[in-house]
Amino acid sequence: MLSAIIGLVTTLEERSIELLRVKSALENALEQQKTFIFSFSHELRNPINSLLGNLQLVLQGEELSAKASQMINVAKVCGEILLQNINNVLDTGKHEIGKLEVNPVSTQLSELFQRTWSIYNELLRQKKLKSQLKIDKDLPAMVRIDPHKLNQVLLNLIGNSVKFTEKGFVTVTAKWLRYSEINEKCFEPVPYDDIDEGLFEKEENLSTISISRYEPGFQELNSEGSQLGRTQIPGPLQSRQETRGVLKIIVKDTGSGMKKEALERLFKKFSQVSEHVVHRQIGTGLGLFITREICLEMKGEIRAYSKFGVGSTFIVCIPLSTVPSGNLQRAGSVAIINQLAQKRIKALVADDSPFNVNLVCNYFAQFGASVVSVAYNGYDIYMKYKECMSLGVEIDVVTSDIDMPGMDGRQVCDSIREYEKENRLRPVVVILISGNYDREQVEEYVNPQRGHKADCFLRKPVSFSDFSRAVYNLIEIQ
Ligand SMILES: Nc1ncnc2c1ncn2[C@@H]1O[C@H](COP(=O)(O)OP(=O)(O)OP(=O)(O)O)[C@@H](O)[C@H]1O
Ligand SMILES: [Mg+2]
Repeated sequence: MLSAIIGLVTTLEERSIELLRVKSALENALEQQKTFIFSFSHELRNPINSLLGNLQLVLQGEELSAKASQMINVAKVCGEILLQNINNVLDTGKHEIGKLEVNPVSTQLSELFQRTWSIYNELLRQKKLKSQLKIDKDLPAMVRIDPHKLNQVLLNLIGNSVKFTEKGFVTVTAKWLRYSEINEKCFEPVPYDDIDEGLFEKEENLSTISISRYEPGFQELNSEGSQLGRTQIPGPLQSRQETRGVLKIIVKDTGSGMKKEALERLFKKFSQVSEHVVHRQIGTGLGLFITREICLEMKGEIRAYSKFGVGSTFIVCIPLSTVPSGNLQRAGSVAIINQLAQKRIKALVADDSPFNVNLVCNYFAQFGASVVSVAYNGYDIYMKYKECMSLGVEIDVVTSDIDMPGMDGRQVCDSIREYEKENRLRPVVVILISGNYDREQVEEYVNPQRGHKADCFLRKPVSFSDFSRAVYNLIEIQ
């Protein structure tokens, strides 16, 4: 009896040692996956940041022939779609390790919709599809939302509609509902039931701000979404106080549609539900899975409605707070560039990627700022900052990548703040830029309540519009 108990205890001990070994192996694998995802994301976002940023600058230049500008536009669209696929894969990896995070910041909604929409304009045109972007006149000017994640949701939904529609329409509608929570009412009217009037139904409070047709003479947005032809941008709701509401996005198409059984497994990973063999082969099958996870992370919801052979409608509802809109954030991009040009800003730029250093220098050059010095690691930029200060060259802005060899961006920031304190200097604006978003890092380094560290965090890829707006807002505050 005793020997049987001893045998049992020994077996249990062996099992628990084995379990501990398995646990530790799993923890190691998880840790490796984390490291892989973060370094992979850094390595991929760096070149794409430079690629998209430079293409945008070339497009903004004047001396391009129509053919060249069309070719560069196509290259930029391909870059954006490549980035969207990379983001879907990376975010799926992050979701697996419980690190899919959203970073809500003050965002101009209407501008974001226009910019994202313009990415698919060329493809819609090539497929000879009619398309509309309709924006609620009451849509607030500024809300707190993660612009990268909202962009990803939109690109995935519009991308699917373009991919699975061969004739007819693709429409995107953005509405502002005055409920502060998500409920059934947010999703009414239910598409494809008796009340649904189909596509292009009468919606009184909406402005059509972009129509792209295949006939000549259509109104088109440029790739920055800024040129709106004769169509009107809706007058956004300007609120002095923060209010809450729900952003409702409807993406509707007259594509292949889906059967009921297909709809049920739509948001699962790798579920390509098309009846069409060729369609089934296009894509990774991650788009809708990650779109739904992002919506949930934003405390929102996504629903799909479809009628086989008729079309599909996706409705996303996200609860949001508006940001009281001050004059600074309302300034248009031309006004921002003009005002920045008058400031004669002096800057230092650090990034371990020469391509990104080059891009940030090009961005500064757009508004006549002079980049006094650049560096490819944190230590050098700190030494250059000290040298400038000791020579009496007053630096206004330091932009620094976070992941750099030796001294990283956060250490650069800490050292600069310490030097300023010791020498009683006026704080310089520090902008941290990174391909990775880590909530803890950002909260620790870009939070005025925790002492003056970095002034702002920008996630790669950084567009010229986001960059100039950030510099403008920070320089104005001083
Ligand atoms: N608007 C739509 N019309 C018809 N079918 C759709 C539509 N949107 C999604 N689907 C179906 O749902 C499937 C899953 O979509 P999802 O976006 O997750 O993957 P994907 O588009 O195939 O690949 P990925 O987005 O990762 O490149 C699609 O393969 C398609 O069968
Ligand atoms: Mg897709």
